[in-house]
Amino acid sequence: MTRQIVVATGNPRKLEELRRVVEAADLDVQILGLSDFPSYPEPEETERTFEGNAMLKAQAAARHTGIEAIADDSGITIEELNDMPGVRSARWAGPACDDTANLELLLAQLDGVAQPRRAGQFVCALAHVTPGGKRRVFRGEMSGHVAPFRRGDNGFGYDPIFIPEGQGRTTAEMSAEEKDAISHRGQAVRAFVEWLKEG
Ligand code: IMP
Repeated sequence: MTRQIVVATGNPRKLEELRRVVEAADLDVQILGLSDFPSYPEPEETERTFEGNAMLKAQAAARHTGIEAIADDSGITIEELNDMPGVRSARWAGPACDDTANLELLLAQLDGVAQPRRAGQFVCALAHVTPGGKRRVFRGEMSGHVAPFRRGDNGFGYDPIFIPEGQGRTTAEMSAEEKDAISHRGQAVRAFVEWLKEG
């Protein structure tokens, strides 16, 4: 019987990305979205870790759909800022802010800070929960630093200002495939798919 897994995200790009990677692995798995189920109140991201927030979202989805669920939580952590924005990456410039406001605030906070102290990483935690309550988290990280300028039109969020280690370009200057190959989310999703293959 085909194994069904729901992805607890309102972001259609995340759903498509996961579906693409799982389908490429040629497993007997069907990836469903939240729109395939009656809606339910999504939990607030109240935890202080990426793992905790991913788990909250996956648990709520497993409970309300009755099938296995996965959910991710991600963000950027900067050592100079005590690992913030962290879990607050999406709301860094305030509750109603957008990607541009968040990115500009981060650039302003690092204004005048020299290169070695601009180091940070993108982090992604991908939680998997069964309706019976079994839990597991897959984590991916991409280290790099925050550029003092913005460059590139691809991606989203902090991509135009993030240069991964060993790269001369921001992640917004990379194609989706180039970024997937090294990104925090790409790593977490590939670890999840490897685990699916085992089981
Ligand atoms: P969430 O995982 O959907 O809650 O998003 C967290 C926030 O982290 C996003 O709104 C972005 O600001 C940031 N973020 C997470 N992953 C990336 C990425 O791959 N590129 C740029 N920004 C990211």
